[in-house]
Amino acid sequence: MSGRIPRQFIDDLLLRVDIVDLVDSRVPLKKSGSNFVARCPFHNEKTPSFSVNRNRQTYHCFGCGVGGNAISFLMDYAHLGFVEAVEDLAAFIGVDVPRELAVGNPSVIPVTSDVAPIYKILEAVAGFYEEQLRGDAGQKAVMYLKNRGVNGAMAKTYGLGYAPAHWNALLGRFDRQGLLDAGLVVLKEDGKVYDRFRDRLMFPIRDRRHRVIGFGGRVLDDSLPKYLNSPETAVFLKGKEVYGLSELLDCNAKPERIVVVEGYMDVIALAQYGVRNVVAALGTATSKAHMEMLFRFTPELVFCFDGDRAGQQAAWKAVEAALPCLRDGRQIKIMLLPQGHDPDSLVREEGCDGFMLRMQQSQSLSDYFFEYIGKDVELEVAEGRAKLLALAKPHLEKIPAGFFAISCCRVCEVWRERR
Ligand code: GTP
Ligand code: MN
Repeated sequence: MSGRIPRQFIDDLLLRVDIVDLVDSRVPLKKSGSNFVARCPFHNEKTPSFSVNRNRQTYHCFGCGVGGNAISFLMDYAHLGFVEAVEDLAAFIGVDVPRELAVGNPSVIPVTSDVAPIYKILEAVAGFYEEQLRGDAGQKAVMYLKNRGVNGAMAKTYGLGYAPAHWNALLGRFDRQGLLDAGLVVLKEDGKVYDRFRDRLMFPIRDRRHRVIGFGGRVLDDSLPKYLNSPETAVFLKGKEVYGLSELLDCNAKPERIVVVEGYMDVIALAQYGVRNVVAALGTATSKAHMEMLFRFTPELVFCFDGDRAGQQAAWKAVEAALPCLRDGRQIKIMLLPQGHDPDSLVREEGCDGFMLRMQQSQSLSDYFFEYIGKDVELEVAEGRAKLLALAKPHLEKIPAGFFAISCCRVCEVWRERR
C-alpha cells in the first residue's frame, strides 16, 4: 500500500501502546523495583541487564547498550523496517494504519490494509488443513510422514496439514473471493472455482513475521507434479520468501549462520535432527533479494546443494546471485553433498554431527568461485591465467566497489595484479 503514514498516527500509537506489554509478549519480563527486567535478547548473558521502564516507555540494556522505544524494539527484535514495525505495533493494539493520500495532500483517509483478509484466510485454511491431517481422511498423509521418518513434533512445529481429495473442500467453508485472492482455488472459464490443492501433504509457508503467505503441497505417491506451490499473490512473492524462516526465528532470532537448502523435506529432516538454522528456496533459484533478506538475520549463509550436476549448476547460479551482495562482514559458503544425497538423506545417515562437520568443511565463496571458473584452465601457464582473468572479470565486476577494494578474495587479487 502506498502513501505516507501520518506523523500524528505514529505519535498516538506510541502513546497508546505499553512497551512493557509489547516487550513482555516477545521476551518475558520480571518486575524488579520500578523496572521490568529480562536477559537481553540482543546479546548473550547469564544475568539480566535488559530493563524496560514503563514511565519513560523505553528499554535499555546495561550490558550491550541497546535502547529505544517500542518501534525501535520491534525493528531490532523482529528485524523489521520502520514501516513494518509501525504496522506490527498497530496490529498489536488492534488498529489499522492510515495513509496520507499523496504528498502535500493534508487529507488523511484511514484505510484498512487490503491484504489483511488474505492473511486471515490463509491462516484459517492452514488450520483447516492441519485438522484434516488429524482426521480420518488425513491418515494416509500421516502414514506417508511416518514412512519418511517425520515425527509428530516436527509436523506440529511446521504446521503440516492435509488437503482432502475433494474439488470443493474449501468453498463451503471459506469466502470465495478470499480464496481466489489467496490463490487457494483456481478459476475456471465458466466462472466456477475448484480447490488448487487436493490430496496433498501441505506445507504452510510463513514469512518472517510468522504470517502464512502460501503453501507447498506434495503428492503422497510418485505422481506428478510432485509439488504444487501457491501462485504469487498480493502477499506471496516467491523471489523474496523462503521456507522455514519463521520456524527458524522461533528458536533463534539471531542465528550465527543460516543454511539454505533446496527442499521442504530437507528443512524438516534437518530440524528433526537438531539442525534448526535451515531454510529452503521455494523451488526457484536463490535470488539476490533472498540473500539480502537473509543477511538481515545472520552474517553467514551456507548454500547446500546436492552433489550431482544439477546441484553444481544450482550452486554456481547462487554464487552469481551472491556476488552483488558481498559486503564486509558477510560470509557465503558453498556446501556440496556427496553424489546421490540430499540433506534429508544425509542427516538421516550421518546424523546432526555428520552434517555439522560437513558444514564446517564447506568452501568459501571465493574458493568455490576460483575452483569452478578455473576447472578447465591451466593455471601453470601465463595464457591460462590470462584466460582465468578474462573468465572471472565479468563476474567480479558485479561485486560492490567498496567490498571489491578490500576483498582478500584470491581471484580478486589475481585480477588486480594483472590490471
Ligand atoms: P521430496 O522428494 O519429498 O524429498 O522433496 P524435497 O523437498 O526434497 O524436494 P526436491 O529436492 O525434490 O526439490 C526441491 C524443491 O523444488 C521442492 O521442495 C519444491 O519447492 C521444488 N519442486 C520439486 N519438484 C517440484 C515440482 O514438481 N513442481 C514445483 N512447482 N516445484 C517442485
Ligand atoms: Mn528430498
